[in-house]
Amino acid sequence: GNKIRNAKLVLLGDVGTGKSSLVLRFVKGQFVEFQESTIGAAFFSQTLAVNDETVKFEIWDTAGQERYHSLAPMYYRGAAAAVIVYDMTNVATFARAKKWVQELQAQGSANTIMALAGNKADLLESRQVSAEASLFHHHCYFTSYCVKMEIWIYALPFCFIRCITSNAFVILQEAQSYAQENGLFFMETSAKTAVNVNDIFYEIAKRLIRV
Ligand code: GTP
Ligand code: MG
Repeated sequence: GNKIRNAKLVLLGDVGTGKSSLVLRFVKGQFVEFQESTIGAAFFSQTLAVNDETVKFEIWDTAGQERYHSLAPMYYRGAAAAVIVYDMTNVATFARAKKWVQELQAQGSANTIMALAGNKADLLESRQVSAEASLFHHHCYFTSYCVKMEIWIYALPFCFIRCITSNAFVILQEAQSYAQENGLFFMETSAKTAVNVNDIFYEIAKRLIRV
């Protein structure tokens, strides 16, 4: 028969990482460029069918602003799942995501399923958090830049200066390996283009019905 399973889900993450946008995409299939910053928290629900079961997500979209931090335990306590969101064009938000993981590991329930979402995957050219090791990336960036230059001898010093001053020298993080080490599953998402948004909720639902 068709079983309905209620599942409390919380979204956590720094201000502006796209928590509300991910929920809006998942629940209503919409995206707005000028999404307002959440005050306190917002509640949504959405169902998802997996095999012959239905998961009814009760979604708490929390506010990323630091002044609301003390409210967070209300939302993650007893949650079946938590989606920790960072903005892959902003390395500081990845550091904040790690703090949320630590807090959940210390204060949350042990069986909360945790997902790490590297959002804004559509803004590839501004990437600051790598999904995987990326020496190759640097190399390609450097090479392709140089090839464009008419005269190599002039191009090389220019490339060097350019690399030092660009994102290529931002300390790149490895989200995938971090997630693995900490028992989260990881996806890069885009609320704007919808890439991996349903997928991340579907993956959570699959893990929930396994429990
Ligand atoms: P708080 O509620 O303040 O914690 O922020 P939030 O995490 O809910 O972020 P929100 O969804 O409000 O998004 C912040 C801004 O980022 C908005 O202008 C969104 O349009 C934009 N944004 C969200 N997701 C994406 C995305 O996947 N790609 C791009 N390009 N922009 C996004
Ligand atoms: Mg919000």
